[in-house]
Amino acid sequence: MGGGGGATDGRMRRRLVVVSNRGPIVYARTDEGRTARRGGGGLVTALSGLVPAHDVTWIAAAISDEDRVVAQEQAGAVDEADRLGHRFRLRLVAVERAEYDRYYNVFANPHLWFIQHGLWNHPYTPELNAGIVGAWHSYRHVNERIADAVAEEAEAVGAEAVLVQDYQLYLVPRLLRDRGVAAPVNHFTHIPWPGPDAWRSARREAREAILVGLLGANVVGFHTRRSARNFLSACEDYISGAHVDYRHAEVEYDGRTTRVRAYPISVDPLEFDALADDSRVHEAAETLLEVEPERLILRVDRTDPSKNIVRGFTAFGRFLDQHPEWHGRVVMLALLDPSRQEIPEYAEYLGAVHRAARAVNDAHARDDWNPIDLRVSDNFPRAVAAYKRYDVLLVNAIVDGMNLIAKEAPLVNERDGVVILSENAGAHEELGRHALTVNPFDVEETAAAIETALVMPEVDRVARAAGIRDHVRAHDVREWIANQLADLERRGVGAR
Ligand code: F6P
Repeated sequence: MGGGGGATDGRMRRRLVVVSNRGPIVYARTDEGRTARRGGGGLVTALSGLVPAHDVTWIAAAISDEDRVVAQEQAGAVDEADRLGHRFRLRLVAVERAEYDRYYNVFANPHLWFIQHGLWNHPYTPELNAGIVGAWHSYRHVNERIADAVAEEAEAVGAEAVLVQDYQLYLVPRLLRDRGVAAPVNHFTHIPWPGPDAWRSARREAREAILVGLLGANVVGFHTRRSARNFLSACEDYISGAHVDYRHAEVEYDGRTTRVRAYPISVDPLEFDALADDSRVHEAAETLLEVEPERLILRVDRTDPSKNIVRGFTAFGRFLDQHPEWHGRVVMLALLDPSRQEIPEYAEYLGAVHRAARAVNDAHARDDWNPIDLRVSDNFPRAVAAYKRYDVLLVNAIVDGMNLIAKEAPLVNERDGVVILSENAGAHEELGRHALTVNPFDVEETAAAIETALVMPEVDRVARAAGIRDHVRAHDVREWIANQLADLERRGVGAR
């Protein structure tokens, strides 16, 4: 990679620029002054692992009001530290509020998110109207402003690699080439990349610019081989002049070659070992359940339509219809983190989630038993306490890039719980053989899987739970990062 040469194992210290919409720190203003809180989500957590090992400059959008103040005060990047005091540089990019709203709350979500998770209702939506055209312009503009900041910082620090993250920033790799950035660029998409036909519900101009934007990168990464294949097909279908080599998983376009790779993201098992023993988790465990059920079915999700929470409740209702012998003995605990509530589709979905839980409870509850225990709040210690306690973990996403719950919960679970896993979650490529597979649309199959999980002999449960734990310990988040850095290290391909 950079002038240093040498290691190809991802362990050498490098000058890296990380770029994501949501940054590693969220600023707020309280009576005591400015506070800095660690940003949430799997992406930020995974990439934070780079900070102790490399010289990191992180560029992100200013999201909170105080982020904007920080962005205005600083001329470039400021010095920051992670939880353990490792230093990194942070640069926040502020764009006008209405523009950010159109970029994030209209174009990235729901438009792109719904296309990539197959959530649009095609007889009616999406309608590619003036609103979408305006949101597309804002998306482009925010990507340009972020690319400007990346180009400046990459030059200032002599970046050896630029790691651009996710669907909010598809245009950045190409924009960096236009700005003369010579460092290798990796773009990683954390959500599924659907088959090429799904992209027909995007405007032609937008889908072509998105693909060309990504083809500015040296390496384009996805969680799964399926997403990587779909990306190659999309390039073949929509980009005239692109030469797609399926055998080597490469696309040649405009004089450069982009490698297309699958890097399944993972978690840090040591972090979960520590969390399992954290005093906040112990406290949360004490108040987790009012009444201890004989068996606990758990789901932990953001309130995102892609998570398929409504069908999960319906399936549990079907199971209870068919199995009165389980009444009073099993509870489904749903710990849901409210997400993107400024977006009408998300607010409406949360309403549907409440209605679906109510329908099951109205049909089956008794004075001493409520079958679905629904909690909507952001409470990570409580989620970890529940991870330790479940007998069945339900992950029935309609489709999911990876789904880290399916990896982190089994690490700390103490009851050899069974994982019911959607065949469309990225995690299924790795963990499917240790889980009970369901088609997420099939509520009858999901109801049957709940029964199978509840009556599964101990010897099978133990083997499956160990299978997942062993896989995640052997393929942790360090491997995810090291593989990407090692691939970027192979110079020559696509470098200008
Ligand atoms: O799964 C993609 C992702 O962007 C994650 O990185 C993140 O944790 C999650 O969606 C939530 O996204 P947002 O930043 O919009 O809250």
